[in-house]
Amino acid sequence: MTRSATIVAGTCLVMGSVLWPQPAPAHAQITTTVQFDREIVHILDNHCVMCHVEKGLTFPLVTYEQTYALRWKIRQDALDRHMPPWAAMPGDGDFANDNGLTQREIDFLVSWAESFGPRNNGEIYTGVAAMPSARKIVRAHIDFDRWALGRPDLRLQLPENAANPRNPDETTRTLIDPRLASDRWLRGLEYKPGDRRIVRAVSFAIQETGQWIGSWTPWHGFVSLPKGLAYRLPAGSHILADIRYRGSNEPATGQGTLGLYFAGQSSQRAVSTLVLEAKPALSSSAAAHKWVATTRLAADTTILALQPELRPGVQSIEVAVRAPGGATQVLLFAKDIPMQWPTPYVFTTPVSLRKGTDLTVIEHYASDDAAAVAAIPVTFSAYQGAPLTTGRRQVQRLAPPTQHFKLAGTVKSVDAANGRLVVQHDDIPGFMQAMTMSYEVRKPEELQAVRAGDTIQSDVVVSDTGSYLENIRVLGQKK
Ligand code: HEC
Repeated sequence: MTRSATIVAGTCLVMGSVLWPQPAPAHAQITTTVQFDREIVHILDNHCVMCHVEKGLTFPLVTYEQTYALRWKIRQDALDRHMPPWAAMPGDGDFANDNGLTQREIDFLVSWAESFGPRNNGEIYTGVAAMPSARKIVRAHIDFDRWALGRPDLRLQLPENAANPRNPDETTRTLIDPRLASDRWLRGLEYKPGDRRIVRAVSFAIQETGQWIGSWTPWHGFVSLPKGLAYRLPAGSHILADIRYRGSNEPATGQGTLGLYFAGQSSQRAVSTLVLEAKPALSSSAAAHKWVATTRLAADTTILALQPELRPGVQSIEVAVRAPGGATQVLLFAKDIPMQWPTPYVFTTPVSLRKGTDLTVIEHYASDDAAAVAAIPVTFSAYQGAPLTTGRRQVQRLAPPTQHFKLAGTVKSVDAANGRLVVQHDDIPGFMQAMTMSYEVRKPEELQAVRAGDTIQSDVVVSDTGSYLENIRVLGQKK
């Protein structure tokens, strides 16, 4: 008995040394107050676990141990904006399905990784007998069974697919028959893949009209049209689902479920599809890899969403509008676009454009590969006539203004090689609560002027290129 208990304890110890953070070496007392249980788990919930989960697309980032083990890769991917996949640059359009990290979230991940990835405040529970399960294990969480739009009016089971999941990035077309005896108005749809390990994206269209009605991605699983708008589903029509698979070594045959949400027959305005076909810009040879499409709107038009169909080698896409006699405004600019993550761009506020507005798409490709096709379509979902929503500012979006905050705190350490400071700071109203964080310092001379233990005041500059400290003033040395 005693022996087996010893063995169990021994096993735990071994596991502990593999999975758990090592205590910080005595000379490096750099600890952040960014905690897994608080800031990090919140980021995982909102941006990661839709893919990084057991039975998800890839390895789980759910528990502290899993996240801790990958913290350096997480840090780098967050800084490079490789993860989560989202290529639209902040500052132009505002998208309901934006899954990019905010600058604050990036700062949290970086600071946590650089500071030994603490779990929580390190509270020690002594009253073990009194509260046997006092320590709640915090882990990231997502509920895939919940319908975000509520109970669907009609649930359609997709036929099982014969697609070979070993073939990465294969797209399979599936036909769904909703058996509609009469015309219906569709105000929303939501999709649940049968097996989340193998599905990267799904695009839905009406077979008979060719209309695109929306797309599913792991991080945004539904389409919900603004009030008063709907897609017309003609009697007897069919829905096409283009399912894009991710390669898998295990056989996986999931049957997806599509939920449809109907609106009343009357007072619905029809949303239709506008397709722009980008073609090679023929001007100079330097522009050989530039593809362009432009159209002048023949009626007042409001755009709800757009979906580019990109080809390998794509470097960037820009969608812009120019009002008659007015200035150009960019609706979308995306670069370094990961081909394996096709996504629509769903505007948070529909974009209303006047008749006579020029709508332009410009795509850049790294090579001539795209030339294998004659045209590269960009699909818009839009409606004609006066905008339904009024009073809200449309289109005009400027780059987010650079913000300045005041920081007061104590320097914990200086990392001259990487141009960073770890500062234990007071509350920064409007930006961050009191905590110990690692900050970038862009001017080397400012970094050279501070030492560990200095009490400082500084500006925190939050811009679209990152946040950093500037105008650092040393007030004294803490004893
Ligand atoms: C849309 C799905 C999706 C989302 C959302 C997502 N990831 Fe990933 N992530 C992946 C896939 C797929 C891989 C590639 C793994 C592979 O190739 O098998 C990956 C790879 C990574 C890697 C690289 C691992 C390595 O070995 O290099 C890291 C780190 C990572 N993800 C972190 C994150 C973090 C942190 C978040 C949230 C902030 C996130 N990911 C959000 C799908 C996603």
